[in-house]
Amino acid sequence: MEKIQKIKGFADLLPEQSRVFQRLEDTARAVFGRYGYREARVPILERTELFSRSIGEETDVVQKEMYTFPDRKGRMLTMRPEATAGMVRAYVENGLHAQEELSKLFTYGPMFRYERPQKGRMRQFHQLDVEAFGSPSPLLDAEMLFMLHHFLTELGITELTFELNSLGCPKCRPDYQNALNEYFKGFDSGQLCEDCLRRKLTNPLRVLDCKVPSCKELTRGAPKITDYLCPDCAEHFSTVKSLLDRGGLDYTLNPRLVRGLDYYVRTTFEITSGNIGAQTAVAGGGRYDGLVRTLGGPDLPGVGFACGMERLALLMADPGPSAPDFHIVAMGADALDAGLLLAQELRAAGFGGECALAHKSTKSQMRGADKSQARFCLILGEAELAAGTVVVKNMRDASQATVPLAGVIDLLRL
Ligand code: HAM
Repeated sequence: MEKIQKIKGFADLLPEQSRVFQRLEDTARAVFGRYGYREARVPILERTELFSRSIGEETDVVQKEMYTFPDRKGRMLTMRPEATAGMVRAYVENGLHAQEELSKLFTYGPMFRYERPQKGRMRQFHQLDVEAFGSPSPLLDAEMLFMLHHFLTELGITELTFELNSLGCPKCRPDYQNALNEYFKGFDSGQLCEDCLRRKLTNPLRVLDCKVPSCKELTRGAPKITDYLCPDCAEHFSTVKSLLDRGGLDYTLNPRLVRGLDYYVRTTFEITSGNIGAQTAVAGGGRYDGLVRTLGGPDLPGVGFACGMERLALLMADPGPSAPDFHIVAMGADALDAGLLLAQELRAAGFGGECALAHKSTKSQMRGADKSQARFCLILGEAELAAGTVVVKNMRDASQATVPLAGVIDLLRL
């Protein structure tokens, strides 16, 4: 029969890769927990409108990259391309704002974007996503950046660049948009791509995020958002920067950093690495005051970020499997049965390991014990069965002793 293959841009995570992902998840839980973040889990499938309304109609994500389809009743649904929109929906729908002043949440799981697959860019990829709702304070932005730095350091990932920008607010953004309009007005179809010819009128900030080389080149001379910040936004940004300076977190200012999603205001950031190929961003985020209201909730601020787990995994080594406590070698049918039952007793006592399931030569079973890297190899033959004993071989120093079956647990505890 013909083999059925996985979909392009999707991947199987076999044990070696899963171990790296588990380490990412465990470290996230430990580090984020220290800052008061709690885990939440939200659906993968949401109504399409959730994303078009929050991420923005003019973004590449909404225009070109979403997996959208009607369900059996014709309702338009989308496989989430990111987690923020769903987290905001859950925050509003479950009335968390009525229960607590500040909600600090994180989640992780698969996201879906129909992009051209390449190293570090998948159609199904995974994010670790962090969101904090309820505080406009620049201290929260700084704390979040410190936490992200702490998390990456804990993973042993260094040589990263923290790029930082402020995108202003609905008060100062229109002035900047006018300045951009004015700047891009002079360029036509020879210089801007087709999308940007439209974007320069509908949402000129998106031109700054265009990946087409000729558009990128033109943005070099474009006005900078940081020259247009209103006093409140300027002060907010200056507090974030000053806290990062005082906390010793190095960053690079990038006034062209607009991010690929429309909901950002004020602080935005991206963490990049030069060691993972063309897709350099390992994490990105920022403030999104106004989004909770756009999605039908009260007018409460929010800030967050997401890390790309595949991209972090490219920067991490496989920690290797943890060594089992025992491996049982058994000769003869009765010994095989006894080995299985002994393994059950040991597992019930909290130890981990495997036992022989079918007859094989002693040599081949000993090779299996070596390969398993177990701390102890327990050998059961007819003689041991008759005497109610087992041979315990310490695989680290090759020492060996015959002990009564009942004494194995105490030996393993050593
Ligand atoms: P984003 O910048 O679109 O932000 O994605 C965050 C990270 O996800 C990227 O930096 C990258 O590491 C990873 N990523 C994105 N697309 C792919 C892909 N196709 N394959 C592999 N990795 C990918 C967001 O999604 C925002 N929701 C972040 C956020 C949270 N902002 C506020 N709260």
